[in-house]
Amino acid sequence: MNTLVINCSPVRNGATAEIVHIVSECLKHKFKVKSICIDDFEFGFCKGCRSCHSTGKCIQHDDIDAIMKEYEWADIIVSVAPSYWADIPGQFKAFIDRCTPWCNTHESHAELPGEKKGYTIALRTGPGMPECERVIGSIEHFYGHLEIVSCGSLGLCSVECKEDAAGRIAEITEFCDRIVRKALEDVLSEQIADMKVNTVAVDEKAEHPIYFDKTEKDNSKWLELLTGALKESETFEIHCWNEEKEWMEVALQYGTLKASDWKYGKIITGNVTPEFMDMLLNMPKPLDIELDNKMTPFFNVFLNNGFQSSHYGTEIYRNEKDFFLEDEVQ
Ligand SMILES: Cc1cc2nc3c(=O)[nH]c(=O)nc-3n(C[C@H](O)[C@H](O)[C@H](O)COP(=O)(O)O)c2cc1C
Repeated sequence: MNTLVINCSPVRNGATAEIVHIVSECLKHKFKVKSICIDDFEFGFCKGCRSCHSTGKCIQHDDIDAIMKEYEWADIIVSVAPSYWADIPGQFKAFIDRCTPWCNTHESHAELPGEKKGYTIALRTGPGMPECERVIGSIEHFYGHLEIVSCGSLGLCSVECKEDAAGRIAEITEFCDRIVRKALEDVLSEQIADMKVNTVAVDEKAEHPIYFDKTEKDNSKWLELLTGALKESETFEIHCWNEEKEWMEVALQYGTLKASDWKYGKIITGNVTPEFMDMLLNMPKPLDIELDNKMTPFFNVFLNNGFQSSHYGTEIYRNEKDFFLEDEVQ
C-alpha cells in the first residue's frame, strides 16, 4: 500500500511536522510511505474562472500537478492539519481550491485512479475538540468531492509546539494501528471472498449473509445463531490477527495451529467440544466497537457445517437449511 502523509501546515519543523514524522515512522514498517509539506510547493490561488467546470483542467500550470501526482500514487492519504483561526491553514485551503478540476460536482472533471482511503489528524493549541472537528470536517469534505473514502480521524487539543506533539505519541501510534488494521482487514476480506478451497465447506445457500451493524445493541442474536450452528458441527477454525495474541492463546486452549500462508495472522483449528462451546458462548461482547460492532473478539469463527462468523461476528454466512432464525434476525 502506498501511503502519503501530508503536512497541511506551512511550518516544516513544528507540531504538525512532528506528527507527520511519527505517523510516517509508524506506517513505514507496513506500507510504502512518502511525506510532503504543503510548503514544499509553489502554486497560485484559484482565480475562480470556472473553465475547469467544463474542461476538467486548470488554466494554471504549477506545482499543483506535482502534488496531484503524489495523490495519484497513494492508496492511503493521511492529512495532518493544525487549526489556524479555527480551520485549515490558508496554504492548504488554497491547494483545495485548486483541486476544483477534480471536484465530482462538475459534469466534466478529472479523476484520481483507484479507490483511495483518507485519514485526518487535526491539532490545535486550545482545549476544545469541536474546533478540531471543524478542521477534520473541512478535509473530509474535500476528500468526499475527490471520492477519497474517509476512514477515520484523530483530534489532538492542547498542542502548541513540537514537544507537545511528541508527548502525544501513544494516541498517534494507536491511530496508526487503526489505519494498518483497516487496510489488512480490507485485504483479508477480499481474500476470504475469493477463497474457494478451505477445510470448511461453504454451502452455496450461505451466500446471503446476515449483517450486525452499529444498531445492534448486544450479541444475543449472534449467540443464538452460533448456538444452533455449534450443535450441528464437529470442527472449528478460528482466525486471529498476529497482534491478537490474547485471543490466539484462548483459542489455542481448545485447538492447535493450522499450517497456513496467511502472514498477517494465525489459524487455530480443533474439535467442537462442550468446553469450546462454553468458552465461545460465554465470552462477553467486546468493548472496542469503534470500528466494528464486534459480537466476539475472534476475527473469524468457521464451523465445518458451513457456518461462518466473519469480521468479529458482524457478518454471518450459514447453511440456511440448518437454521431457522432468519425472521428474527433480519
Ligand atoms: C496563524 C495561526 C492561527 C492559529 N489559530 C488557532 C486557533 O484558532 N485555535 C487554536 O486552538 N490554535 C490556533 N493556532 C495554534 C496552532 O493550531 C498550533 O500551534 C499548532 O500546533 C501549530 O502547528 P504548526 O506549527 O505545525 O503549524 C494558530 C496558529 C497560527 C500560526
